[in-house]
Amino acid sequence: MIDHQLRRSLTRQCLLQELVDTPRSLSDVSEIGHRIPTCLVCVIIEQSLCLIFMFDIMHIYIIELQRVVMDVRETWATRLGFILAATGSAVGLGNIWRFPFLTGESGGAAFLVVYLALVLVVGLPVLLVEFVIGRRSKRNPIGAFDQLNHSQWKIAGAVGAIAGFIILSYYSVVGGWVIQYLLASFTGGYGTDAQAFFMSTASGPTTILFHAVFMALVAGIVALGVRNGLEKAATVMVPSVIILLVGMAIYGSTLSGAGEAYQYYLYPELSTLLTDAVSVLPAAAGQAFFTLSLGMGVMITYSSYLAEDRNLLRDSGLIVLIDTGIAILAGLVVFPFLFTQGVTPGEGGAGSIFISLAGAFNGLPAGTLIGGVFFFMLLLAALSSAFSIFEVVVSFTIDTFEITRVRASVLLGVIIFLIGIPTALDLTYLDTYDKFANNILLILGGLLLSLFIGWVYASDATHELRKGRAESWIGPVWINVVRYFVPPVLIITLGLAVIEYYDFIQSTFF
Ligand code: PHE
Repeated sequence: MIDHQLRRSLTRQCLLQELVDTPRSLSDVSEIGHRIPTCLVCVIIEQSLCLIFMFDIMHIYIIELQRVVMDVRETWATRLGFILAATGSAVGLGNIWRFPFLTGESGGAAFLVVYLALVLVVGLPVLLVEFVIGRRSKRNPIGAFDQLNHSQWKIAGAVGAIAGFIILSYYSVVGGWVIQYLLASFTGGYGTDAQAFFMSTASGPTTILFHAVFMALVAGIVALGVRNGLEKAATVMVPSVIILLVGMAIYGSTLSGAGEAYQYYLYPELSTLLTDAVSVLPAAAGQAFFTLSLGMGVMITYSSYLAEDRNLLRDSGLIVLIDTGIAILAGLVVFPFLFTQGVTPGEGGAGSIFISLAGAFNGLPAGTLIGGVFFFMLLLAALSSAFSIFEVVVSFTIDTFEITRVRASVLLGVIIFLIGIPTALDLTYLDTYDKFANNILLILGGLLLSLFIGWVYASDATHELRKGRAESWIGPVWINVVRYFVPPVLIITLGLAVIEYYDFIQSTFF
């Protein structure tokens, strides 16, 4: 028996070698297969061997082809991979779920103005800060500061990791809502009362179940190593999300509540803009950081794989543009539907996007089909963002406790699931976690990173930025913004956020 197996394996290896040495067509492959001695066992073995050869050869060809493609176009592949990964992380529930709901809660247009201003004058510079640290150190946020010989700034990485735990815990709960809406698209729709349907989705035992499913998917992506697939999915996901949102926004513009909605969303009251601006500052800054995945070190990790000749400013500009565009579009979809359904924007709360869209899909021909596609894309967007948060938390844990990647993923998956349970039972915890992690921790993380680059590492950082053929005036302008403008804005924002959070905790729990 052993002898037979050995002979079979040897024959197979020889033939395989012959095939590998001289590339052939599939007909050649089967011709060689036929040279196996038929008298020995039977035709079945011969045929199966043939099949196995073909798969082997195809596999070898595919791997070889991939290698050649990667070698020849390495820069292109890296650049695309980078843009996809970074956009995949940035575009997520933050744009489509969190932005419209926060805008609704914070009074509409004034919030939009402050948010846009912050994205441009704080978000973009801080994104560049993370890119410069990542590309310079070629390490994750924890190893980066050792590599740059400033280990004490590692604290910024730790702040980011804590934020990651908290954010992912409720992000996964909302991801679970998306899965429930996706399933509902195929099993009887979203009920007749969109608000009641949302309430039944948003908390309770089923919510916990789907929170677990989402978290298992995220941890599974790490365990199975299908990360590349997920990043490639961004090529389909981002354009699909844009097309669907544009379509829904156009449909929304024909509704009766559209005029009132645009008034609310797009025309700030000039007389109160300044006072409104101060009150919405913490929320708008938190949103700017959250949506661009800043303050946690995600962008440090992604840019650590980046080639030296990339123009960082151009790449970050592209990411900011796509991300902000999708958020603005989401608002253009949500508000017309909410106003038409008679739901005041603040009242929609965390359910705004679900309530407004479910109502809309209910009224459309083939609505559940469009809804199914929409929620599927939203799920992909949520997964690629959640994955990037999980990466930070996992690498932090591996570095700190020296455990294996798989073990860290399983352990952290369970811990984050447990931290998220209160949110899945009571929506009050969503605000409690969310305000703390975004308006305080992410801003603190961004502040530390900016202080480091602006005051400790300025000349190296400017040099790093210049590497990608960035225009020469960009470096000095950027470094001055990071040194003199970003820190005071973030310190004021942080102060306001802490006071606001204290009040929020007092009024909610005491
Ligand atoms: N940017 C992601 C979104 O908009 C969320 C996120 C926050 C991802 C922080 C990474 C870090 O959904």
